[in-house]
Amino acid sequence: MAFSFSRGPYPSTRLRRTRGQAWARELVCEHRLTPQDLIWPLFVLPGKTAAEPIASLPGVHRHCIDDILKQIEAAVAAGIPAVALFPVTPADLKSDDGDEATNPDNLICTAARAIRERFGDSIGLVCDVALDPYTTHGQDGLLRQGQVVNDETVAVLCRQSVLQAEAGASIIAPSDMMDGRIGAIRRALDAAGHERVMIMSYAAKYASAFYGPFRDAVGSAGNLGKGDKKTYQMQPSSSDEAMHEVALDLQEGADIVMVKPGLPYLDIVRRIKSEFAVPTAVYQVSGEYAMLAAAAERGWLDRQACMLESLLAFRRAGADMILTYFALEAAQALAS
Ligand code: PBG
Repeated sequence: MAFSFSRGPYPSTRLRRTRGQAWARELVCEHRLTPQDLIWPLFVLPGKTAAEPIASLPGVHRHCIDDILKQIEAAVAAGIPAVALFPVTPADLKSDDGDEATNPDNLICTAARAIRERFGDSIGLVCDVALDPYTTHGQDGLLRQGQVVNDETVAVLCRQSVLQAEAGASIIAPSDMMDGRIGAIRRALDAAGHERVMIMSYAAKYASAFYGPFRDAVGSAGNLGKGDKKTYQMQPSSSDEAMHEVALDLQEGADIVMVKPGLPYLDIVRRIKSEFAVPTAVYQVSGEYAMLAAAAERGWLDRQACMLESLLAFRRAGADMILTYFALEAAQALAS
């Protein structure tokens, strides 16, 4: 963008003038963060157990469904428009092919029904689509001769999506990075009468080391072991490739596209917003939360100030919505 200076530079222009008082800073404020921009990821436990702390995500807990309902009540009260659910699947329900993903009575579907029953349409419910919570090998898709196979996986993801939509998901969020899954899931949802259910595509999802604490939280870290997801998630050096992914997902019917992780990939958020001008989400992932939380615990950073600054940075980069483990805390801080 070109600047034209009709009034000339310093001393007629003094940028400090508009920074001089708090009220003036409010007037010239270019980007704002509100609770309405936030989506809160929640980890769901089976049964009726007490909340479990997650060591690598200090301050975040796994909750049983009854407690999840209380958490969501707080989220609604704080103005948060949507939550995202992730299941903690017991080891004995994991299998090589992750069949539990397509059990209509699995933890996610049960939780979704309970949430819908309690909250009706007053909160959006994002359900993740991928097989890693359910597979013994921790990969997002089906393994055949050591390879994560694409098309066979997509067929399972379609069934998983339809079941989640039936259970009450308002947004299906495929996080698996298989090729062609957005179009296939859209067709499957429509064929089952779920044309009003949105798809939020993890479009630019990188093979990142910042997902470590999440894998602890859902108990897939041990399953994945030394494996990695580099044959389907993007390599961190790619930028144009992210635009290609986004273009394809939009063409296939994605309503919202997502970048993940967040802070290390703000350039990707900006490019998507500038080049496509579509609803854009960003995921401040577990490792990003953990870094801030750990430094704050040691007294090295001001937790609340750094939390709000990092979230505002996403808005400035162009994100319309932010998935963050800080969602409730941030919404409450913004209200006070
Ligand atoms: C599963 C999934 C992952 C995350 C969201 N969905 C982990 C992964 O891809 O290994 C990461 C979220 C986070 O780190 O906060 N497909």
